[in-house]
Amino acid sequence: MQRKLAAGNWKMNGARADLSMIDRLNTSHPSPDCDILLCPPAHLVSQAVAQAAKGTLKIGAQNCHSAETGAYTGDISAGMFAEIGASHVIVGHSERREGYGETDTDARAKATAAQAAGLIPIVCLGESLSQRDAGDALNVILTQLAGSVPADSEADTLVVAYEPIWAIGTGKIPTMDEIAEVHQALRANLIDALGQTGAAVPLLYGGSVKPANAAGIFALEHVNGALVGGASLTAQDFSPIIQALS
Ligand code: G3H
Repeated sequence: MQRKLAAGNWKMNGARADLSMIDRLNTSHPSPDCDILLCPPAHLVSQAVAQAAKGTLKIGAQNCHSAETGAYTGDISAGMFAEIGASHVIVGHSERREGYGETDTDARAKATAAQAAGLIPIVCLGESLSQRDAGDALNVILTQLAGSVPADSEADTLVVAYEPIWAIGTGKIPTMDEIAEVHQALRANLIDALGQTGAAVPLLYGGSVKPANAAGIFALEHVNGALVGGASLTAQDFSPIIQALS
C-alpha cells in the first residue's frame, strides 16, 4: 500500500509571515497513511521546521546540489537541508529542467544525494504541450523516469510526481483518462524497474490542482497525492486539498 502525500511547493513565493499557515495546517488531522508536506523557499526552511515541530506537518526543500560540500557558490546540499530538519526535496522539476538545463542525469544525481542524506526525493517528470500533441507524452515521461530514478530506491525513499508542463500554473489539467493512463504506465514501469518496491512508491499528480478538482484526481487509481504550487500558498486553498486526499 502506498502512503499518500499532499505536498505544497511555494516556489519563489512567500515571506516569513506566511509561515503562520503552518499552525493552521498542523491542526488538521490527516489519516495515518497520509503525509502533508510544505516546501517553502530555502531561506525559510529552518524556521518552517521549527514552526511545524509541534505537529505532523513535514517540511521540504525545492532543490539541492548533488555534491555533499564544495565550491558551489549559492547552492545547498541535501545533507545541509537534512541537518536543519527537512524531510523531502523536490528534484527534476520542469522549472529546473527548462530554466537551468537540468537533465535526467542531474535529477538522478540529486535524488541519489538526497537518499544518501536521509531525505526523500520527489522526482518530477512531465511532457510539454508539443510533446503531448505529437503523441509522444508517454515516451517522454517513461524516458525521464528511467533516467531520473535511482536504481536502488525503496518505497519509503522515493516519491514520483507527474507534472505535465502545460498544466503548471495555467489552470488547465489533462483529462482524467490522460492522468490515469500516465500513472498506470508509471506504476507498471516502476514495478519492472524496482519489483514490489515499485508497487508501493507514492505517485503524485501536479499541475493546477485546486480544491475544486482535487477529489476527482485523487479518486484515480495509482494517484497517491498531489504536488501543489499556487494552491499551496494559502491554508484556505491547501486545506481542502489535504482533506480531499485524507
Ligand atoms: O510544483 C508544483 C507544480 O509545478 C504545480 O504548480 O499547482 O501552480 O500548477 P501549480
